[in-house]
Amino acid sequence: MSKIRICNTAEIPSNGMKDYDVEGGLKVLIANAGDCYYAYQGICPHQEVCLAEGYYDGAVLTCHQHLWQWDITTGKAIGLAEAPLEKYEVKVEDGEIFVVQSSALKAAQLFMDISGDTLQQLDLLARREKYETGSTLYNIGDPTDDLYILESGRVEFLIGRDVAKATCLEDSVLLRLNGEETLKVLESDPASGYLVMRKLSTLITRHLGSQGEK
Ligand code: FES
Repeated sequence: MSKIRICNTAEIPSNGMKDYDVEGGLKVLIANAGDCYYAYQGICPHQEVCLAEGYYDGAVLTCHQHLWQWDITTGKAIGLAEAPLEKYEVKVEDGEIFVVQSSALKAAQLFMDISGDTLQQLDLLARREKYETGSTLYNIGDPTDDLYILESGRVEFLIGRDVAKATCLEDSVLLRLNGEETLKVLESDPASGYLVMRKLSTLITRHLGSQGEK
């Protein structure tokens, strides 16, 4: 579980919002609604637009670009929106706002032994996604921009000549890390970056050597 200080409560206008850049490249949006504070991804899930530039009435957040909307208490999509917002747990202590995330990253073999700070930054990048049994996570030719960590469920990999496919064998939850942002975090901590790349190459080699099931 990681806890990152974002700001003082006094910085957030009543029933207003403000965004912050967290170390590691993540933008976090903090919104106030009455006595409560909420934290969400700062960038619209539709396109690269800052949500803090949108509209917020204390209950509904609206992206000014194409008017997708979200319920501020849950991050659930409403109206035209086609995707929810990634929500972060908020803790308010002595007038300071923190975001908290617990994650399967710490248990992931790939990130074992890396520094606590770097793990914390990666933790903030992770977005939790749910997939139903039979969902295809990857098929040959798909872009390979992001990194997925299995949190729960089971995923089958098929790798061979002209075949590269990952399919959920049961309902699964995965943590998705934006590839570019992940690389930036790892580049800022070369020792941890080296450990991750070494483990990644070992995992790839292992899966190429035999079809794996996780
Ligand atoms: S960029 Fe936000 S709704 Fe399109």
